[in-house]
Amino acid sequence: MAEIHSLAYVGLGVSDLERWHWFATHILGMQVSKRDEHGISLRMDEYCQRFFLEQNPIDDLLVAGWQLRTAAELESYVAELRDKGVPVEALSDDLLRRRMVEKAYSCQDPNGFTHEFFFGHTVAELADSFRSPVLRGGFVTGDLGIGHILPFAKNGPQTVAFYRDVLKLRVSDYIREEIHPGVLVDATFFHTATGRHHSIATAQAPTPKVLNHFMVQVEQMDDVGLAYDRAVKAGIPIVLELGHHPNDKTFSFYAQTPSGFNFEMGWGGIVIDDANWEVRAYSEMSDWGHKRNVVL
Ligand SMILES: [Fe+2]
Repeated sequence: MAEIHSLAYVGLGVSDLERWHWFATHILGMQVSKRDEHGISLRMDEYCQRFFLEQNPIDDLLVAGWQLRTAAELESYVAELRDKGVPVEALSDDLLRRRMVEKAYSCQDPNGFTHEFFFGHTVAELADSFRSPVLRGGFVTGDLGIGHILPFAKNGPQTVAFYRDVLKLRVSDYIREEIHPGVLVDATFFHTATGRHHSIATAQAPTPKVLNHFMVQVEQMDDVGLAYDRAVKAGIPIVLELGHHPNDKTFSFYAQTPSGFNFEMGWGGIVIDDANWEVRAYSEMSDWGHKRNVVL
């Protein structure tokens, strides 16, 4: 049965494109591949588009782009979604051009954003290799995808069931922690066939914004520290100080994007081998660090 290969792109609606242009390149270290009337395309590797930013007052997640390995697997996956009663639409030729993919379909998430399933991404010319304006190394992407997203769930159990049973994502583990007296975080983490510890995680929260954070992973640990320094120097609010997650083993910090939701920059995240993986529940989000700051 066809299964999602990786989280290959993410689309964000942002109100301040100018600020994002600077932030994505000089804080995150991405490369602008295109800027036109629709917005900004960002590269993290040989893919022409890993993040796309559209001018939109929503300041939130618009699209999660899931890659299937072959055209046949895409068709089989979509047929299975339809069999489950999910309304799925083919993307128009105009949207396919903007996504820079051959074939794609979309469906709605119960929490207010769009999932797209595609095959056939566009890669840059061989001579046009990825060049980060600021990173010493590169991003960890390729088959593992861009990193992960954490959209909030309006209804936790319904959302977990949608990701697990409808999208067929594999559960990695759970974290249940009381972060403040009376405030329980109950997060579920999901991986795709290629095994990055999680490509999406979700937790129920009463919040107007869908996206809590996206995470990108760098090859060199120093690039986490250097990004932290760049963020502090630029006056960007640090939400969680440097720290370490017990489940995906990522060393990271969290800070605020120009849209108000957060980003996480990490290093050292593990890849799951399902043959030797045991799903377990953790009782803390971080085994050290990640001190939470008050964000204005
Ligand atoms: Fe994260």
